[in-house]
Amino acid sequence: MKIIEASGARIPAIGLGTYQLRGETCANIVTEAIEVGYRHIDTARMYGNEREVGEGIRASGIERDKLFVTTKIWHDSIAAKDLVTSAREAVEAIAIGPVDLLLIHWPNADIPLEDSIGDLNAARREGLAHHIGVANFTSAMLDDASAISEAPLVCNQVEYHPMLSQEAILGACARHDMALVAYSPIGQGRDLLEHPTIQGVARAHGRSPAQVVLRWEIEQPRVAAIPRTSNPDRLRENLDVFSFELTGEEHRSIGELATRRQRLVNPGFAPNWDRV
Ligand SMILES: NC(=O)c1ccc[n+]([C@@H]2O[C@H](COP(=O)([O-])OP(=O)(O)OC[C@H]3O[C@@H](n4cnc5c(N)ncnc54)[C@H](OP(=O)(O)O)[C@@H]3O)[C@@H](O)[C@H]2O)c1
Repeated sequence: MKIIEASGARIPAIGLGTYQLRGETCANIVTEAIEVGYRHIDTARMYGNEREVGEGIRASGIERDKLFVTTKIWHDSIAAKDLVTSAREAVEAIAIGPVDLLLIHWPNADIPLEDSIGDLNAARREGLAHHIGVANFTSAMLDDASAISEAPLVCNQVEYHPMLSQEAILGACARHDMALVAYSPIGQGRDLLEHPTIQGVARAHGRSPAQVVLRWEIEQPRVAAIPRTSNPDRLRENLDVFSFELTGEEHRSIGELATRRQRLVNPGFAPNWDRV
């Protein structure tokens, strides 16, 4: 498994996303993911499944230090003091000790960055997380947040796939030695996977469209991806991306799909995204 090193954190390049996985399905798929080789699991307070993610991890029997677990604090709970309270609840729910990475899930324009980044650091000092970072921050916000933060911010988790350029974020991540953790990395399993360019490269390698897209992501320095599935076959498929390589020409032609500017996750409270 490729590891992304960022400001002292070691993040496995493929992780399991768990949005919308609930109850027993969630716990079982987490256990199975670990059994087939996943070493990185992504959850969030907002997903309402931290307890089941923790159950799945414990049922796998994996040694704690062999697994990288991320959770995120929802944007209504990132004011000073609220964030630490929410982080304590998260750690209690997952019940595997401190998480590896604690993220602010979305910025909140009504809360000063100093307060939320200050509290994120307080959560780390309290021993709730080994590393801290953010999600859905713009490149300018990354510059500001990095200047404020006492401990390094090790990642920005953002939507990233071939139909959405994240050049500005990748630049900011390089400036601050951060990872870009790609969410919706296979475009939520929609038309990206049907695109003739992706289909053609998949045929050429005898691989699936999802594998080609994930491979394109993790071939980039600093980029990890967290595809989600509730299907055991796809669980294996999405992890099996380390034994083939795209040619330079294939990599470039997939990158050209960014002209589609397809942003799939864009709620009303999203920040003013970087121009692409
Ligand atoms: N920070 C944030 O604000 C944020 C926002 C969105 C997501 N996330 C995180 O990122 C994770 C992934 O993003 P996502 O869930 O939006 O989208 P995604 O991983 O790009 O796509 C998931 C969808 O693709 C299907 N799928 C999975 N593997 C496939 C394959 N090999 N071939 C074809 N289809 C496949 C899944 O269906 P089946 O289950 O039927 O396989 C599911 O419907 C989330 O689960 C969450 O952990 C974070």
